[in-house]
Amino acid sequence: MKTLSTLLLPILIFFSSSCTHESIVQPTYTDTGSIIVDPPTPNVKSDTVCFNTEILPLYTTYCSSPGCHDAISHREGITITNYAQIKNGITAKNPSRSPYYTIIGNGMPPKNSPKMTSDQIATILKWINQGALNTNCINSCDTTKFTYTDPIQGLISTNCNGCHGISPGSGNVYLGDYASAKAYISANQALFINAITHSTSLTPAQRMPPSNKMVDCQISQFEKWINAGYPQ
Ligand code: HEC
Repeated sequence: MKTLSTLLLPILIFFSSSCTHESIVQPTYTDTGSIIVDPPTPNVKSDTVCFNTEILPLYTTYCSSPGCHDAISHREGITITNYAQIKNGITAKNPSRSPYYTIIGNGMPPKNSPKMTSDQIATILKWINQGALNTNCINSCDTTKFTYTDPIQGLISTNCNGCHGISPGSGNVYLGDYASAKAYISANQALFINAITHSTSLTPAQRMPPSNKMVDCQISQFEKWINAGYPQ
């Protein structure tokens, strides 16, 4: 009986969830241990939090900016730049026993540094509760959307604001609001595109974000936004 129910339970969960969420995606495991959660067709968002596009950039942007917990400075011996290092401070499905979660807003990021939004903190919580997996998404963005409100503001907030969200910003690039982002990018359009595409025409230090390139569909959302004249 016991074996039967352990066998049936996952099947039942699978079927009940596949009825309610039509976009649910069966994960594929890669040889590096990460899990690809992209739907077979682009522009369909699954409910699984993507580690590579939603979680890693938050830690590298808000915690590993130059001089903090990056590979060179590693303040207090802490480096937070990849999945294994982030997992050192996270207990899957147990947020209260995850120091890299509980410290957010309680001393970290430090005073006068850009803060994560409540939505971003909620996404980290959801990721922990989903098992804190190394999930990777490549196509999970809707490239028919390219206004500032959705998705550009969120992309900048997740990927750039830890370093460019408080004026004057790293390298004197401030992207913290619509007018400033539009003004900077329109005056430096080629440099900006080269920076986010990690063009080899730039030095490695000029490629943005410095530690992890955004996925192609996000870069394409930026390019469409710029080409359309920065719609709000
Ligand atoms: C971890 C910190 C950090 C993050 C995150 C970050 N930047 Fe930067 N950015 C810098 C630093 C530092 C410089 C100055 C680099 C230099 O001049 O060598 C810079 C410079 C730039 C420049 C100017 C490059 C140049 O050569 O003058 C652009 C454009 C830029 N960032 C855009 C972005 C965008 C867009 C994002 C998010 C998608 C982003 N950055 C994320 C730290 C960061």
